[in-house]
Amino acid sequence: MDSLEQLVASAVQDFMAAQDDAAALENAKAKYLGKTGQITELMKGLGKLDPEARKAQGALINAAKGQIEAALTARRDALAEAQMQARLNAEAIDVSLPGRGRAGGGLHPVMRTWERVEAIFRSIGFEVADGPEIENDWTNFTALNSPENHPARSMQDTFYIEGNDTTGKPLLLRTHTSPMQVRYARSHTPPIKVIAPGRTYRVDSDATHSPMFHQVEGLWIAENISFADLKGVYLNFVKAFFETDDLQVRFRPSYFPFTEPSAEIDIAFGSGPLKGRWLEISGSGQVHPSVVRNFGLDPEKYIGFAFGSGLERLTMLRYGVNDLRLFYEGDLRFLKQFN
Ligand code: FA5
Ligand code: MG
Repeated sequence: MDSLEQLVASAVQDFMAAQDDAAALENAKAKYLGKTGQITELMKGLGKLDPEARKAQGALINAAKGQIEAALTARRDALAEAQMQARLNAEAIDVSLPGRGRAGGGLHPVMRTWERVEAIFRSIGFEVADGPEIENDWTNFTALNSPENHPARSMQDTFYIEGNDTTGKPLLLRTHTSPMQVRYARSHTPPIKVIAPGRTYRVDSDATHSPMFHQVEGLWIAENISFADLKGVYLNFVKAFFETDDLQVRFRPSYFPFTEPSAEIDIAFGSGPLKGRWLEISGSGQVHPSVVRNFGLDPEKYIGFAFGSGLERLTMLRYGVNDLRLFYEGDLRFLKQFN
């Protein structure tokens, strides 16, 4: 092999040895094609030759130079290509991977009841309101005619929380939605026709009582709303809610400090597994005159009714669930049945 061929071979070898570092390739290039590179030096040497030999040797050197340049370009391209491949691999998105999966969610059965109750009452002209779950003593109890020593105020029944209201009384988690009667009536003018569904809290826990549960409050106050209207509205509601006319509603005398007279509302289905059994679903009554006064209204002029129904209770009856705790255990096998 003559020396030019060796030179080309050695250049190719050096270029191949240059790895991903661009500087290494440039150094190798300088070694052959740079100002003091070997090809350059050979070119400089041509001047000493006579014209004939210079022409022949020049052509050979040029050919070698061309090969070295071609090898350099090829190596440069190969390195750039390899670098691009490495980047593509590193940033690759595997489109064949299965997605993370977003299972279709569903509404909790109590939420289904909540939405149903809203839809039914809206259809007969009731507004829907909501308010705070952290209440003050006056709105949850006093304004509703519950005296200071009423058992509902005891630590056994009520969750008190840290912090006092502006009168220095401890704040609490509302024990019923009835404070919404007060809040709504004090900020609206009669006729008042509203329901207020929401979460409520009591120190309670068994098959039919949960520490957090839901009620829906109903309030209709105007100049001539009577107990008969309560009966009509509520009967209409339960028939729509349970999707049957085959049921009876009974108003059983009871006591609430904020209504007079007061009644528990019981229903009995005419057929089905619960046929003939009376089941309590709500408290109700004609709003007590003192409470109407606390609404900021004249009890001589305004009269009406209120009710407070348990949303879990309505849900249990609608779907035949016999233990309220199932609603809050988060067992998907149970919850999926409602979707
Ligand atoms: C009341 O809370 C009254 N505020 C209802 C009322 C409103 C009466 C307006 C008159 C006028 P009571 O404590 O009975 O009443 O509760 C009403 C309903 O809430 C019950 O019938 C029951 O369905 C539900 N409930 C009460 N405590 C719990 C609990 N711990 N877990 C689940 N549901 C409950
Ligand atoms: Mg009751």
